[in-house]
Amino acid sequence: MMYNSRISGTGSYLPEKQLTNSDIEKMVDTTADWIKDRTGISSRHVAKMSEATSDIGAASALKALEMAGLKVDDIDMIITATITPDHVMPNTACLIQQKIGARNVMSFDLSAACSGFIFGLSVADQFIRTGVHKNILVIGAEVLTRIVNYQDRGTCILFGDGGGAAIVSRAEENSESQFYSHHGHGEGRYGDLLMLPAGGSKTPFNQEALSKDEQFVIMKGRDIFKQAVRTMSECCSEALNANKMQSSDIDWLIPHQANLRIINAVAKHFDFPKDKVVIEIEDVGNTSAGTIPIALDRAVRDGRLQRGQNILLAAFGGGLTSGSLLFKY
Ligand code: UT7
Repeated sequence: MMYNSRISGTGSYLPEKQLTNSDIEKMVDTTADWIKDRTGISSRHVAKMSEATSDIGAASALKALEMAGLKVDDIDMIITATITPDHVMPNTACLIQQKIGARNVMSFDLSAACSGFIFGLSVADQFIRTGVHKNILVIGAEVLTRIVNYQDRGTCILFGDGGGAAIVSRAEENSESQFYSHHGHGEGRYGDLLMLPAGGSKTPFNQEALSKDEQFVIMKGRDIFKQAVRTMSECCSEALNANKMQSSDIDWLIPHQANLRIINAVAKHFDFPKDKVVIEIEDVGNTSAGTIPIALDRAVRDGRLQRGQNILLAAFGGGLTSGSLLFKY
């Protein structure tokens, strides 16, 4: 017996403090207009020092549970997609499990950068589809400002803090909601285009690493831009082909929000009119694994997303990772 997955609830959380383009203008050699023109971003959120990724994840999770009409005891598994865990160990999913008071269930982090939330949903789908579990909490949350170098104008203009969550539940027999397909990819040969050099087993934190600023993310922006357009376009094609659908069959495209120009290039390629693309980058910036769940939650809550619509999620990120999920909401 196979079951269908549905998204029964969503939630998101953004820290209160905002960092505007005018603020960044005072920190590095750039202008507020350049940032807006080249990225579509006007401001991004910054977590307080007392706020960690697990706090953003827990706040999002509680909102998603409320929307789903579920109790915390109903959660059968917790997956947290993040590249900025509170600690390497214990994992952030366990910290969220404790913070929301969930049962003693399998809880783990998933490291796939900006594709992490889609990968998390696809793992959840396998456990729902096979009947093993009924409700899985999938979170994408980041505190990227802790790994951003505010002297590097190529990266500090993009990234912000925040996240979101979705509950993947077993669909009722008479429900038309279902996950149609998911695809994921990894291309290690492009790993050096976007990386965090220190803090892992290859280059542990030490004085030398810190003196070279290797605790901060580095990015070859122009190369990543090209790969982003290529991989997200390939992922959209793959999803449409696998389901014998055309772009006109899709009600909403929710892409990873890295740069408005990347989103526009992908949408243009598939003839997705702008009003069929969920774009929430202007006041949020790039929150890596957080962008898709934040955009999804906003679109659900303001009524853009309606039950019965076909939704296509597409992402790319450091690794390089990329992936898609096509589902009927
Ligand atoms: O989710 C994770 C993945 N990350 C991304 O998807 C980011 C992808 N890349 C980007 O979004 C863009 O490459 C950036 C926004 C980072 C840069 O925009 P760009 O239009 O690709 O700029 P560029 O790197 O091609 O540089 C064009 C010019 C250069 O000057 P010259 O060499 O033409 O004189 C840069 O030095 O713009 C300069 N520049 C800036 N100028 C003002 C680069 N960054 C800035 C800046 N302010 N912040």
